[in-house]
Order: sequence, then structure tokens, then C-alpha cells
Amino acid sequence: MSINFNDEKKIFTIQTKKTTYQMMVDDYGYLLHLYYGRKTHGIMDYLLTYNDRGFSGNPYEAERDRTYSLDTLPQEYPAAGGADYRNLAINAVNSDGSYGLDMRYVDYEIRDGKYSLQGLPAVYADEKEAQTLTIILEDEVKQIRVELYYGVLPEIDIITRAAKVTNLGAETIHINKLLSSCLDLVHGSFEVITFYGKHCMERETQRKTVGHGTITVGSKRGMSSHQYNPCVILTHPKTTEGSGACFGFELVYSGGFIAEIEKDQFNQTRVLMGMSHEQLSYPLEHSQSLIAPEVMMTFSGDGLAGLSHNFHDCIRDHIIRGKYQKTPRPVLLNSWEALYMDFNGKDIYQLAKSCADLDIDLLVMDDGWFGHRDTDTTSLGDWVVNEEKLGEPLGHLIERINALGMKFGIWFEPECVSEDSDLYRAHPDWALAVPGRNPIRSRYQLVLDFSRKEVVDAVFDSVCKVLDQGNIEYVKWDMNRSLSDVYSAATKNQGRVFYDYVLGLYDFLERIHVRYPHILIEGCSGGGGRFDAGMLYYTPQIWCSDNTDAVDRLKIQYGTSFGYPVCTMGSHVSDVPNHQTGRVTPLETRKTVAMAGTFGYELNPAKLSDEEKNSIRQQVAEYRALQNLIFTGDYYRLSDPYKQKYSAWSFVSKDKKECLMQLVVRGVQGNPGVVYVRFAGLDPDATYQDVETGKMYPGQALNYMGMPMPFDMITGEYPAHSVHMIAVEQ
Ligand code: GLA
Repeated sequence: MSINFNDEKKIFTIQTKKTTYQMMVDDYGYLLHLYYGRKTHGIMDYLLTYNDRGFSGNPYEAERDRTYSLDTLPQEYPAAGGADYRNLAINAVNSDGSYGLDMRYVDYEIRDGKYSLQGLPAVYADEKEAQTLTIILEDEVKQIRVELYYGVLPEIDIITRAAKVTNLGAETIHINKLLSSCLDLVHGSFEVITFYGKHCMERETQRKTVGHGTITVGSKRGMSSHQYNPCVILTHPKTTEGSGACFGFELVYSGGFIAEIEKDQFNQTRVLMGMSHEQLSYPLEHSQSLIAPEVMMTFSGDGLAGLSHNFHDCIRDHIIRGKYQKTPRPVLLNSWEALYMDFNGKDIYQLAKSCADLDIDLLVMDDGWFGHRDTDTTSLGDWVVNEEKLGEPLGHLIERINALGMKFGIWFEPECVSEDSDLYRAHPDWALAVPGRNPIRSRYQLVLDFSRKEVVDAVFDSVCKVLDQGNIEYVKWDMNRSLSDVYSAATKNQGRVFYDYVLGLYDFLERIHVRYPHILIEGCSGGGGRFDAGMLYYTPQIWCSDNTDAVDRLKIQYGTSFGYPVCTMGSHVSDVPNHQTGRVTPLETRKTVAMAGTFGYELNPAKLSDEEKNSIRQQVAEYRALQNLIFTGDYYRLSDPYKQKYSAWSFVSKDKKECLMQLVVRGVQGNPGVVYVRFAGLDPDATYQDVETGKMYPGQALNYMGMPMPFDMITGEYPAHSVHMIAVEQ
């Protein structure tokens, strides 16, 4: 049993393999947080202190006791309207116009298995792998109920949280804030790691001190965004990759989000996370509910690598679903940087033919095949094959490509519409817009109102009509702008559209997942603008960035790796000079970087020399041989690209018998120092043999002192090196 309730003391204790989480219902019925961290036993209510804090308010029942205040006590789910003046988890406008809630404990339930959330993605696990704790709180006066959900996956030290608010009263209320998790830590100095970025440079890493005040990151864009990622890590200042304590929070949601990290007047730290409440004013009539999406939480006492491994294991085994959860993913070539929109059926066929010659598995026909889409100003929404442009029906083209031994994939952007489209001309009110105001255009396009079922249904039908035309085995699901003018002409409402839009998106993706279980979907949003665990529930991989430059990718993939496993990161070898940066890097380096991802190509093989083609054949074979280790092994960041002139990482199989280390040197100098790479996670008692050189290395020494890289490799622009080792019996 990983969840226990002590009836006498009203204390809930959650135990995972290496962590303990504890909370308590106090004498007034408030749910207080007691402990989250290294595994322990016993009762930690001794951590609570009660002191007269002057201006801190006291609940009425506390009478003359000035030492009891919600302004200072650690809480599980703090509500607005009381006397807690820190950032809060929930706020509502009641039917009488008053705001705020007074949530008191009512009941609980513990059961085997993991809860799921209606209409939302969530971690899944069977009855042996997980337990669920539901705690019910109620505001008796305003008749509002909150159910707090805790999903416990003890083996991987993951605790998930979500919440559901229900209106038990007769009149309509409005929910203005509904976050998913709150963690109060009564003391300690912390730093916070966040992942910021922009189009073509997503998930850069920032680590900074949590001082007094609030650090807020989030997205108001209706999507998780390029600018901030819904993954936040709170660490002790001395925590490193290999040691020290840290807490991770990752939202399983693809819409806007918020994370608030606050240090209060008494040096307590509160971390809140959930969907953005920008513009949220969600109406709930009698007995209606609103569900806050899930947060995955984890604590690691063994540094950041341990924290990432917990997230990676959870996403690989409990978020990603379907055929491609376990089966090897195809090595693909995407037509975008090879042809952009300038192609016909012959070009696509030629591309497929050259892919077949290079042993590549799958060709993706990217943007440009529908409507009269020769530029990005037109045709989104008209998911009708342009047979004139292709010169043949799609089914025929796919058959010819399949006959080459190649699989076929195709690009869509279902959520958007061009004003120059039949769809928009027929249904102008299907695009998000505020009446009387011209909507904001972005990349010349508008966003469809996916909060409306008839819109989702219509686009779903037109997408299916294309998917049914042939043997399509891959879909790239793109979304190339942020939401604006978020108003629905159907419901004449603004306060629920951001959220309902995301539900519409998930409904669409779920229907595709069920109807086409054999199709691999790759998420994309102007590259990695919607890289989150919510999307990964439907799309096992996501295009990491529109920036395919191998050197920039080192930082992008480094940042992404904190919260997401390598098997989710779309990464391709592209042409040089690189289309985004103009940089020229060796083919070997581009391969090394793309191998730390789902591996594919984004170039036109017709432009390659025979020597390069031979190298690519070898690369594909090498990747196939190593994909299992790369996808299922534990990933270690072996350098900090913000501090060191080289980037190194490794994959260590779960049984520690195999290791692949990869390295790219970013700053080459005359007469350089030797580059030593210190390994991690190897079996200290094992001896490892380099598969290529046959040299033997003691595991402990590799972990402790590392290995010198060959001196003659540190030359030229951005050289790369890999070491593949197997543990041998001595
Ligand atoms: C986005 C994607 C690209 C490509 C183009 C097509 O920018 O990130 O990979 O598919 O759209 O328009």
C-alpha cells in the first residue's frame, strides 16, 4: 500500500520507493501540507509552528487564538477569499457575486489503479502499478466541492495531482482560477530551473535563485508555447546532476499554463502549477464540473539526473500509448527543407526513390499538397488533395512509393484556416474572432474555434477523407500560431474558450488515435512550440524545433531532456549551410546530434555526393542498431553546454550492461587541453569494453575520473565523437 490514512490523527501518507509525501486535516478541517522529500517514516506534524504573526488573519473559529493563520501555514490547495495572501490554487465568483471559497475537508477514498480525467490526457497505470487517493473538500456555505486527486506510481517516484471543482448549488458560479498542484515547503533556500525560448530556439535553460516575491513562468497563448515550457524544477542551491535534492513539476496539458514560485514573508516557498487563468471565467451550472489538468510531480534526492529519469520513465511507460510506444520508430525523411512547397508528384516520388536507396524507412510529404497551397497565404482548412499539382491521385502516389519499400507520411495543420479557403468562405464564424473587430493574423492564418464540436467534426471528416485514400503510416500534426481573439461566436462566451479549445483538440486527436491505431503522429508547432506531456499522450514524438542546426540543437535538446525522454524528440540531419543559421557542420556531427532523438533527415539526397550517401547508409544502420538503447536506456547529461565548450551525454541500459556516449566539441582551439568526459550511472564493479577499439575501462573509474577523448578529434569545426561500450565478464 503506498497510501495510508491515519484515522486518529487524520494524516495521509504517501510512500513511493524513495520518497514520502504527507498531509494532515487539522482541527478546523483545513488540509495542511506536512512533508515531501526523502523517504521517511512517522508523523511530521511537528514541522508546523504556530506563532502570533501580527497582521496575519485568523479564522473566526480560532476565536482569540492569534497563532493560527492560513497566511502562514503550509496548505495543500489554498483558496482565494480567506486570509492567505500568497498565490492561490483556486478562485471562484459565487452565484451571489461574492468571490472566494472556504474549503474544508469532508471525506477521502483510497483505491488501486490510477484515476483518469474526462476529456484530458493523464498518466495511465494498472492496478498493480498505481494507487489513487481522492480527498474531498467543500465550501458548505457556497456549495462548492473540490476533489483533489493524487495518483501514486511508487516504483518511479511519481505522484500526480489534479483537481475537479463541482457546483453543488442551484445557481451558476464562475471559476476564475483552477490550478492543479500546490507544494508548500516551510523552509529552505531554493533555486528554480525553467525552460525559456522562442521560435527556432526552444527550451533554453535558466537556473536562478528564488528570492522574496514571485517568479512566474507560463503561457497565455492558448498553447504550451515556445517561450516557456510547462516543466519547472525546484532545487537546493548545491544540487547537481548527480547529487542533491530537487523537485520536478510537469503539466500534462497543451494549452496555456502558469507556474508560480513564491518565497513568502517567513521564507517559506510555495510552488503552484496548472492551466493559465488568463481570461478564465468558466461558468458552472448546478452539478457541472471543471477539471484541472494533471501535474506530474517527482522528488529526487540523487540530483537532476534522477529527477529526469523519473519523468522519462513516466512518459515512456505511462503517457505514450499505442503501436509506437514500444516498437522501433521509422527513420524518416521530411520533404520540408528539401522542397518546401515547390514540388509535384514526380518530385515526391524521386525523393522517395532516393530515400529507398539510402535505406530510409518513411517519406513525409510536408506542407503544400492540398487546396492551392503554393505559398503560406492560402488554403488551410481545405484538406483536399491537389491532384493537379501531384499529377496523380494521392492513393496512386502512395502505392508507387510503397512499391519502393517505403512508408508514406503526410502533413496537416487541422486547427488553422486561411481566409483564402473554401472552408472560411463557407463558415467565417468558425474562426476565432471578436465581433466587430478584425482578428489578428499570424503567418497569414486564423485559428479555428475548436471549442465547437461541429467545427472539430467537420475538420475531422475532411482529414479522414485524406487519410483513407491510401496507406498513410505517419502524420505530422502542425499548429503554426498562437491563439488570439479567443471568443466563440457559438457560445457568445470568452471565459471558457481557451479550455474548451484544448478539449476539442484532444477529442480530435483521440478519435484519430482510435481510428488509425497504426499511424505514428508527430506533434509540431512551428517546431517545438507545443512540446508537452499532454501532446505526448496522442503523439509519441514531437518536432523539437524548426532549427535543425546541429550546434543550436545541442542546447535545445539539452533543455528538453530535463523533462522529456529522447524518444519524444524529433531530430533530423539537415543540409549545410544550415537553413536557419547558415552554419556548416560535418555530417558526422549532424548525425550524432540527431541520434539523440527520433532520427531522420531533412534534406534532398539528390544534392549529396556518393561518399555522403554511403555515410548516410551507415548512419541509418548504426541508428537502427542503437535505437533500443537510445530509447529505453537512462539518459545522462554529462556536461553543461552553458558552462563547458563541449556537449556530452550518454545512454546507459537499465541493466547497466551497455552504454553509448556522444560528444560534440563546440569550441576548438590551437594546442587544446585534453577533453575528459566523466561518465555517470555505470556499474562501478563492471568492466566496460569499447566496442570499436576493444579497450577496457573500469566502471568506477569512468564514473569518477572519466575518459580522455582522442586528441586528434579536437580539430576542425564542431567535431563529434561517440563511444559505445559493453560490460564484459572479467
Ligand atoms: C512549420 C513546421 C515546419 C514545416 C512548416 C510547413 O513551420 O514546424 O516543419 O512543416 O510549418 O509550413
